[in-house]
Amino acid sequence: MKLIVAPDYAGICEKAANIFADEIRRNPACVLGLATGSTPVGLYQQLIRRYQDGTLDLSHVQTFNLDEYCGLAGDHPQSYRWFMQKNLFDHVNIPPQQTHIPSGIADDPEEECRRYDALIESCGGIDIQLLGIGHNGHIGFNEPDDHFPVGSHLTRLTDSTIQANSRFFASEDEVPTHAITMGAGSILKAKKILLMASGQGKAEILCRSMTGPVTPAVPASVLQLHRDAVILADEAAASLLCRIIPPSEE
Ligand code: F6R
Repeated sequence: MKLIVAPDYAGICEKAANIFADEIRRNPACVLGLATGSTPVGLYQQLIRRYQDGTLDLSHVQTFNLDEYCGLAGDHPQSYRWFMQKNLFDHVNIPPQQTHIPSGIADDPEEECRRYDALIESCGGIDIQLLGIGHNGHIGFNEPDDHFPVGSHLTRLTDSTIQANSRFFASEDEVPTHAITMGAGSILKAKKILLMASGQGKAEILCRSMTGPVTPAVPASVLQLHRDAVILADEAAASLLCRIIPPSEE
């Protein structure tokens, strides 16, 4: 595992955009694993800026998002499909049929999970997977558990995640209780993983995930097993971790 530290949020977004842009230029038809939440927004803005100034062509990439709320259709403003459209897809040249997100309204969510995993496989697997980290160590919606789920699956959100995500809804009652998410196994299959973390509030969980025991009680700890996982953190988020893992010069 490699730790890269930037002074602030803008710095990690710039570095993440460089890593993504390098991958896309090296392999224009690469498969990107994408995330929602607050953390990747600045990265997406950087990718949009690079597309708009003509230095980045995204027309051949395929994208797969980590997760989607159950019960929300793609035109619901709190769905992750909507989030991705507004924060990235509406502003760049990825053909819509090359952007993939699990359906939150599939009649049979288990079947939808199997379809999603098969689609990822048929595209050759994910080349670079972007992740954020929840305050309880979740990645995607892999919540603390007694086992690491392998493939995409239906999951119940913990109360702490529902509470954290209620900031985007009118009230906590409106936050869906279930989601479809890629599994820890699906995430580990990505050739490269890039986890972004920003702010003091992530310092403790980031340190515990990357230096504590590998356990499904702290889902992000599974990233310790990946051979090309990069942790990109600002100084506040890295403040505890960098005492144990020396930051890389890149
Ligand atoms: C979203 C996702 C979540 C978030 C996590 C952190 O697709 O997979 O695991 O990455 O909840 O969210 P933020 O970035 O809002 O702190």
